[in-house]
Amino acid sequence: MGFYNLLADRTRCMSRSAIREILKVASQPGMLSLAGGVPAPGSFPLELIDELFGIVIRKYADQAFQYGLTEGFAPLRQALVKHLIHRGIEVSEENLLVTTGSQSVLDAVGKILISRGEVVGVESPTYLGALQAFAPYEPLYASIPCDEGGVIPEALEQLLRHQVIKFIYLVPTFQNPTGRTLSLDRRRSIAALIKHYGALLVEDDPYSDLRYEGVSVPSIKSLAPDNVVYIGSLSKVFAPGLRIGYCAAPEPILNWLTLVKQGVDLHTSTFNQALAAEYLEGGHLQHHLPRILDLYRPRQVAMLKALSRCMPAGIRWSHPEGGMFVWVEGSETTRFDMVYQNAIRRHVAFVPGHFFFAEPGTGMNTMRLNFTMVTEEEIDKAVRILGHLLRTQDPGAYDLELRLVERQQNASCTGAEVF
Ligand SMILES: Cc1ncc(COP(=O)(O)O)c(C=O)c1O
Repeated sequence: MGFYNLLADRTRCMSRSAIREILKVASQPGMLSLAGGVPAPGSFPLELIDELFGIVIRKYADQAFQYGLTEGFAPLRQALVKHLIHRGIEVSEENLLVTTGSQSVLDAVGKILISRGEVVGVESPTYLGALQAFAPYEPLYASIPCDEGGVIPEALEQLLRHQVIKFIYLVPTFQNPTGRTLSLDRRRSIAALIKHYGALLVEDDPYSDLRYEGVSVPSIKSLAPDNVVYIGSLSKVFAPGLRIGYCAAPEPILNWLTLVKQGVDLHTSTFNQALAAEYLEGGHLQHHLPRILDLYRPRQVAMLKALSRCMPAGIRWSHPEGGMFVWVEGSETTRFDMVYQNAIRRHVAFVPGHFFFAEPGTGMNTMRLNFTMVTEEEIDKAVRILGHLLRTQDPGAYDLELRLVERQQNASCTGAEVF
């Protein structure tokens, strides 16, 4: 019995993430994977976590293993209030909800706001996990035109003027998948627009601490506090397996999000929240973050350098100042789904970019590259292979080329030198 006939309408709208399938392939032994979107295990402060375990057990013995408040463990909420002040976001504990990863907020937002057929405004491309979280609530999407600087405010204004938009979902800093960051000017314009049109913006911000160069930019939440649901996460700066996320939202929205959470999981693991509270309150984030940045910065530099050396003419890529991704765009005729098949045969994995677009069939000439999970040498080798694959769509010609490349491991890889 397939049970398919028992499924609710919303369940039929759920689909397995294609990226999960790609990640399965990417994790096979010997694969050079630029596909993942996860922090490097070397970024986890393991000795510190060991120490914090002891502290939490001694300090919070009674509470850490007990049921807790849905809103979150009080010491963590207090620590998050201070953490957010550093980002220019002024909220009180009452405006904060601790969540099981930031992903769960996306589902809760969908649950409380989206009825079938209502329109959600998204970047083009956008975070696939958000599309997946919203899918069961059956929204329609309005893709907001973007350029290298992210969402174009004038395009957003057109949308807000002509369409009823339930909410806008943005990842304004080091976006997944493009790595793009909205400038302060654009943030101000977007803040002014949402205030003017009385619109609600969901600002998803898991990456802003991962800045390798340049100066930080204020969140949109800090510019339009009453119109923004701000979502944060400790996944990229502590440990994603602990599943600590949070959100700061206008009061009525926060109350509904809290009600949803109560029905889903009562509360986030108290023990993990206590670890996170100690991590923040003990000043460990400030101490540990530079180590994470020192791990990722050279990887990002290596990726950008390798792209400059190895990509053929006509291929462009983003130059993010932080985060975990670089976004690559080919000409209109480049088909990264085809390149992907050939790349896997050469033991290189990436994510074809079309998965990140709300409209099927869009973005076939794009790919997302991750640089946090691979060493500089691996990045160099993988990008070199991708460059050669892009130069020739003929796999036979590629085999000959690959043998030449392997013989010239130390050579620079402009087309002229390889052929
Ligand atoms: C933009 C964005 N939002 C949310 C998440 C979910 O993060 P978590 O649930 O670990 O906090 C991710 C994960 O990579 C992400 O890239």
